[in-house]
Amino acid sequence: MLATAKPSGPKNPWLAYAALYRDPLGYLTRAARKHGDVVRLKIGRKSDFLLNHPDLVRAALLDQENLRRAVNRPLRRLLGMGLLTCRSERHKQQRALLQPMFARERIVALGDVMVDQTTRWANRWRDGATVDMAEEMMELAMSITAKALFNVDLSSKSAELRNTLATLLEATRFKNVVVTSKQFEKLSLPFHRRFARAAEKLDTEIHAMIGERRNGACDQPDLLSTMLRLQKQSRRGITDEKIRDQILTFFTVGHETTATGLMWTWYLLSENPGVAKKLYSEVDHVLGDRLPSGRDCDRLQYTRMVFAESMRLYPPIWLMTRRAVRDMKINDLVIRNGSYVHLSPFVMHRDPRYFPDPERFDPERWTPEAAASRPKFSYFPFGGGPLQCIGEGFAWTQGILVISTLAREWQMRVLSGHRIVLDPHITLRSRYGMPMILKRRK
Ligand code: HEM
Repeated sequence: MLATAKPSGPKNPWLAYAALYRDPLGYLTRAARKHGDVVRLKIGRKSDFLLNHPDLVRAALLDQENLRRAVNRPLRRLLGMGLLTCRSERHKQQRALLQPMFARERIVALGDVMVDQTTRWANRWRDGATVDMAEEMMELAMSITAKALFNVDLSSKSAELRNTLATLLEATRFKNVVVTSKQFEKLSLPFHRRFARAAEKLDTEIHAMIGERRNGACDQPDLLSTMLRLQKQSRRGITDEKIRDQILTFFTVGHETTATGLMWTWYLLSENPGVAKKLYSEVDHVLGDRLPSGRDCDRLQYTRMVFAESMRLYPPIWLMTRRAVRDMKINDLVIRNGSYVHLSPFVMHRDPRYFPDPERFDPERWTPEAAASRPKFSYFPFGGGPLQCIGEGFAWTQGILVISTLAREWQMRVLSGHRIVLDPHITLRSRYGMPMILKRRK
């Protein structure tokens, strides 16, 4: 029975918001354990909520009528009218246009691009070298996204582009919302000037990419040529600016999320040699001497379970927020117009009701029987409902293929004594990176 009629919450909400700002993951976890399925954060006459029950999460994610995705201002500014940041009707139209690009058979076919980019990437690695796996996975995921979705080769530019994007994403950080607010923006601090310079640089790159494709052959059925074709056909005029927004959305969201998921996977494999051994054994058995392809994903079952368990403990998107656009109810819970509703995969995925001994990394939780025994929305790394991740299939395929391609040849060990501190950016990063020692397996 869900107790939603009279939710409780911290007595002093201002202190609560200060704690949330300082340590969002710790604070949300403690609040959920103390106050249960609904945590109420009351400020003045308005209440915001954190929902911690799969049925409540489902209700919130499925309700696009009363709840809208809340995106912070800098991210909205950066991504303009792309799929992540546009609203309602426009969202429905864009989603319908783009969905066919993510059909299963298309993604399976992109497997070869993913494997090829990964092999080329790992060719730079040397036995015994130390690399920052956070950066390695970011740049690799960036090259894969660019090649698979836009047929653009970024291998020579990925570090530079990564730096530009890092500057832009810094502004969207939870802790920077104050300096990026409208009032502060007028002051034009060095921070804002850095942001503007980086935005201009990135825009130039993207517009050059659009121009080159428009002037060149357009026979690739990728996201960029599809958008250009739609632009030609459209009577309502899809501007280059809108294409730019879409490219940047897919480029940013597509690489950052998968890269953090992969980084935590290598970390967890390093900490759990028994699991790593089982993974190597599956990879060797299924692939033998050859490289994987998209068609192997169904057979790499344990690899899939490892990636799933890694995203349970470290969900790349650790928080989703919705804003009520009218007074509404979920069960008996009254939510007023303008209130925020927070959903945290990080908190839910560590709830012992659904994941006993939650801190333990145990891929066996993802056998088909074990997964089917849990309520659906106890695990939601890709969200759900009409705003669910459009790239979910792409991300699973990429995750499984990158892990299996690299695990065929390499073993990674976290540098001993390295301090792991979680850094809840838009994605869940590791504050001091992830230095790892590479060792050849074969
Ligand atoms: C492990 C990797 C990934 C994770 C964990 C992830 C997670 C998510 C989540 C949780 C959302 C929904 C946010 C909300 O409800 O507010 C989302 C949306 C989205 N994701 Fe992903 N994502 C991943 C990979 C990708 C990839 C590879 C792409 C592109 C190829 C992508 C593109 C998008 C887009 C465009 C949206 C907005 C969808 C819409 O509103 O219709 N994501 N993602």
